[in-house]
Parts: sequence; C-alpha cells; structure tokens
Amino acid sequence: MNIKIVSTQPFADQKPGTSGLRKRVTVFQELHYLENFVQSIFDSLEGYQGQTLVVGGDGRYYNRQAIQTILKMAAANEFGRVLVGQGGVLSTPAASCIIRKNQAFGGIILSASHNPGGPEGDFGIKYNISNGGPAPEKVTEAIYARSKTITAYRILEAADVNLDQLGTSQVGSMTVQVIDSVTDYAQLMESLFDFDRIHHLLTSGSFRMCMDSLHAVTGPYAHAIFEQRLGAPAGTVINGIPLEDFGGGHPDPNLVYAHELVDILYGEQGPDFGAASDGDGDRNMILGRKFFVTPSDSLAIIAANANIVPGYSSGLAGVARSMPTSQAVDRVAAHIGIDCYETPTGWKFFGNLLDANKATLCGEESFGTGSNHIREKDGLWAVLFWLNILAVRQQSVEQIVQEHWKTYGRNYYSRHDYEEVDTERANNLITNLRSLIPTLKGKQFGRYQVEYSDDFSYTDPVDGSVSQKQGVRILFTDGSRIVFRLSGTGTQGATLRLYLESYEPDPANHALDPQQALATLITLSDEIAQIHHFTGLEKPTVIT
Ligand code: G1P
Ligand code: ZN
Repeated sequence: MNIKIVSTQPFADQKPGTSGLRKRVTVFQELHYLENFVQSIFDSLEGYQGQTLVVGGDGRYYNRQAIQTILKMAAANEFGRVLVGQGGVLSTPAASCIIRKNQAFGGIILSASHNPGGPEGDFGIKYNISNGGPAPEKVTEAIYARSKTITAYRILEAADVNLDQLGTSQVGSMTVQVIDSVTDYAQLMESLFDFDRIHHLLTSGSFRMCMDSLHAVTGPYAHAIFEQRLGAPAGTVINGIPLEDFGGGHPDPNLVYAHELVDILYGEQGPDFGAASDGDGDRNMILGRKFFVTPSDSLAIIAANANIVPGYSSGLAGVARSMPTSQAVDRVAAHIGIDCYETPTGWKFFGNLLDANKATLCGEESFGTGSNHIREKDGLWAVLFWLNILAVRQQSVEQIVQEHWKTYGRNYYSRHDYEEVDTERANNLITNLRSLIPTLKGKQFGRYQVEYSDDFSYTDPVDGSVSQKQGVRILFTDGSRIVFRLSGTGTQGATLRLYLESYEPDPANHALDPQQALATLITLSDEIAQIHHFTGLEKPTVIT
C-alpha cells in the first residue's frame, strides 16, 4: 500500500482552546484542514511508532469521515495499533478509560462537547496523552506551533475500515481493532459503586429516575448501565438514541437546554431523581424533584459523602476545583482536613494533581465532575455517585442538599454568559478590567469591600509550569467573589463569562433564589466592568 506525502500550507487558526480545536464543521471540511491538524499532533509527539492510539468521538456529523482519515494517517505515521469504538463512537470518559486500560500511547477524541452538531454545527478534535487526560499546555502549544509551519502530511492510500463490525483488520501494517464502546467503561463503573444497592433502589418501586441523554453519546451507555445492568424500567433513559445533529438540540445539560428533563422533574408526580449529560458524555446535571443541584454544590456533596461510596471509602487524597467554581468544596476539604487545589478553567489542569495523588475528586462549575478513576470529567460517573448516595442515605436529593447547607453554609452561585460578543469589544472589556486591578484593593462598594483583585495565575504544584491571565477575579472581605473571563471553547465571536458567588452561613437565609441573593453583586459587576457598555448587550444570553 502506498503512503502519500501531500503538500499543504499552514492554517493560521489551529490554536487549541480550553478543550482541543473546535470549529464549524464547514471549516473542518476545508481541503487539508483536518489533515494538517492531525499531522501537527503526530509531529509534536515522540516515540509513538509501533504504539497504540485510541480513536473515537461523540458520533456527531463528520465523526465517521474524520475517523477514516485519522486511521489512514495513523497508519502512514507508523502507529502499531488503533483501538476505535464501534461506529466510531466513544464517550470522552470511555476514551479516557480505554487509553488507561490498554496503556495506549494516547488518544484522539472527536467532539465539540456541548456545542450543537450537524452540517452547520460544530466539530472538534482533541489529543489525550497516555494518562488518559487532555494534553497539557506544553503539548497543545507544540501542536499549534507545528500547525503554523507544516508543509506536508502523510496518509496511506487504503480502503475505509468497517467501523460497525467488531473485530480486527489491517490498514497497511497497522492493526485496527473495532471495540465495543460501552463494556470497559461499564466495568469500571461497577468497580467503583455499590451496584447491588443502586439496583435495589431502582427496582424497589418507590424510587423513580429519568436520565436525559439529549440524543448524544451517553444513550448506549445509559441504556446498558441503568436499564440493563441496574434494573431501571425501560423508558428511564430518554432521548437515548445518539443522532448526528443531536436532534437539532443543544446537547448541554443545564436548565436552559435540558428543558424537557426540567419539565419532567418540575411537573406533577415527577420522578425522584433526574440527570442529563452532554454531547460527549463528560458533563452532568443533577436534579431532584423540583430541585436543581448546582455543579459546585454537587462537587461539595460528593466530597462530603465519599466515605459511603465503595470506590472512595478509604479516604480522599485531596480535592480540586477550577478557579471560577464556587468555594463550597473548600469548606468540605477544610472540614475533613484535606487539601483543596484551585486551578485554571479546563480539565487538563487536574491531570497532574490526579497523577501525583494530590487530589481524588475534581470539579468545575460548568457541569463537570470527576475523579482519579480516569483523567476526564465524567457525566455518568457523577450520576452513579449520586445514586449511590441516595441508595445509602434514603433521603431525597433536596434533603441531602439542605442538610449539607446547614452543616457547611450555602455558597450562592451563578454564571452569566454573554455570547457572540464582538471579539474586539470583549477584549477591550478585559483590558479595561485588568487596568483597574491595581486600583480596586480596599475599595468599598455598598456593603462589599474589595479584599483582593488579580488576573488569576496558576503555578502547577507538580511540574512548576505557570499559566497566566486565567481570569480577572475580585474577592470581597466577606468571601464573596466576582470573576470575569473569556471562553476558550466558543467558535463564533467571544463569550464573556461572569461568575458570581456569595457565602451565606445562616440556614434562615438559605431559601433565596440565587439571582436574588446575588442581585447586589450582579449590579456591582456591571458597575465595575461596564458590561453593557462594552458588550452592547442588555442582559446575559444564558444564566446558569
Ligand atoms: C468551558 C467551561 C470549562 C470546561 C470547558 C470544556 O470552557 O467553562 O469549565 O472545562 O468548557 O468542557 P470555556 O468555554 O469557559 O473556556
Ligand atoms: Zn463535554
């Protein structure tokens, strides 16, 4: 078989963002666009010849075509073996699990996560290293640098691989193994949680759950785990058939986009427990009956209850959260007497902490929770963790959260997104904020006094690498915070994220609507950052 060396020219826009390279499908369909990026990945790696690569994606439009190209390029670049999920499908957590289990050299995950799919939607590609986690910044920077100078890529002239048929075939001298997408992942879950107790809960007749897979990748995983293995009645999983365009929806598990699930949980005679996950299965939303659990609270509650879950009952090494995530988990860590790490936004920063056994659990406010079982956040893992807690505690979701607040206080929390802002205007807003930082300390705004303000910089405690300019934060003397940063995952214009948090120790004040509880901080953030002025937007496009 023939290896072709194809001449190409660099694209200027192949800089990986918070989570890989994300662009419109139409951009990836441009001649050589995908190939350039894949070759840039391979060129940035050393010693992969003869090794194993894991490949899979969330099943969105263009997944299959991209995989065929990647297989032929992996063969031409001398990988020894590729493990690919059946139908080209692997959830992001399953890909991480399979990389680790097979001691693969790395993996390529095709997903734009929660962004809409279809011919007019988004596509994405991300490289994960041998620990199963997203490539750290030094690797993504090398990939980007290479993409700016690339002149040729290598691809084998070969027939397409049948991705639907389990089994082994050859592409040139490289072996391709099409593997079941679910089995390894489901086994890992069974090793962590008390499946007997969860089975009992789900078949007792007095507890009902609803899992919304939003027509995205977790459908087959959720059917296999909740319905087949754990005995939940058929119909427990809704929107469980993955579609290339997610049924036209936005596969993002939050109160806005998972509205069908929200309507079910907030309806009359709703189930006791509801959950949703995103396009590639790494995010989760947790709901009780007429009750929403914020991701920041969910992380704190998972940490506080880890002792009753088999995979974690021997204790937590530490916990980690992204900087904008609420400080609820910090209070749990302080209570247990373990370290709590504050990292920049993006899962890649947790990898070193998990590898060095400094943290066992990690989470982000953006509906991401996970642990050292893999090196990605994990949607269904979080759902199972909650089910395990519910099975043991025999209380409602709401009772568990209320009790948690009573013990630790409540961190009122909200994120306001201003989407599709003109990039220059958004940059001006941040530049202006940065220039204000030195003037803020000690300033009084109504009842809030600024204790400290900076542009968050992180020094990795394991490898010493420094990541700067990770978000402007304003901390007040009472523990409240406002954080501003620009999204690194959008594909259109800029997205400004405003994160608001205020701490309330008194249980008598725990029943407020978060927007109400945060109202003064919301006004204050506009006063300081002049959001309306800079963005031209009257109000946020999404509030979570
Ligand atoms: C967003 C979230 C971040 C998450 C990332 C990937 O990134 O805020 O927490 O890790 O998606 O799922 P952002 O768009 O804010 O850069
Ligand atoms: Zn995702």
